[in-house]
Amino acid sequence: MSKVHVFDHPLIQHKVSIMRDKNTGCKEFRELLDEISMLMVYEVTRDLPTKDVDIETPICKMTAKMLAGKPIGIVPILRAGLGMVDGILQLIPNAKVGHIGLYRDPKTFEPVEYYCKLPEDAEHRELFVLDPMLATGGSASAAITFLKKRGCHNIRLINLIAAPEGIARIQKDHPDVDIYVAAQDEKLNDHCYIIPGLGDAGDRLFGTK
Ligand code: PRP
Ligand code: URA
Repeated sequence: MSKVHVFDHPLIQHKVSIMRDKNTGCKEFRELLDEISMLMVYEVTRDLPTKDVDIETPICKMTAKMLAGKPIGIVPILRAGLGMVDGILQLIPNAKVGHIGLYRDPKTFEPVEYYCKLPEDAEHRELFVLDPMLATGGSASAAITFLKKRGCHNIRLINLIAAPEGIARIQKDHPDVDIYVAAQDEKLNDHCYIIPGLGDAGDRLFGTK
């Protein structure tokens, strides 16, 4: 069963609350998502393996720790996942970036795929799938299924806000994928929007409504 990690750090909670406020404008929303993504990935990577390397400081020789293990790839789900990319790249500048384009059909709420471009060596990377919103879980589940069909197996899902329905969907479809969220909300409304949530993440990020 995939584990759910909820980041209840006061700084993260404070910033998420400002993002939820309907009076928060596009510019501030974007900046906050950027900052929270950076704070989240710091915790998501806490268990990455390290190796000992010999280096020489200006004073003496020493054995120091460096990252080991698979290189990292980040895969934002378009559009809203794009808002999480820069914050993560600030901490992991060598990560390669793949893109998966999905939108939710407004009537069926089922994900529709329209774009995919992954790093050539995606299957050899530890992949972080990014999307601020995990509502029904349909989009994230479809993106992860897609990655698995391409041979990728080391996958983590990073969301800002998740509904219980979305978490349950990922745990059912992808029990090997751990989920990292800044907040776990109450439920979905009749339009499959998260309550209380923050509204439509893509529209608020890009100012399209
Ligand atoms: C939003 C969001 C997720 C999806 C979540 O995208 O960014 O990708 O909905 O819903 P789900 O868990 O029920 O699949 P949307 O379809 O609105 O597309 P957009 O990012 O292009 O606005
Ligand atoms: N997509 C969003 O952007 N927000 C929601 O609450 C649900 C899906």
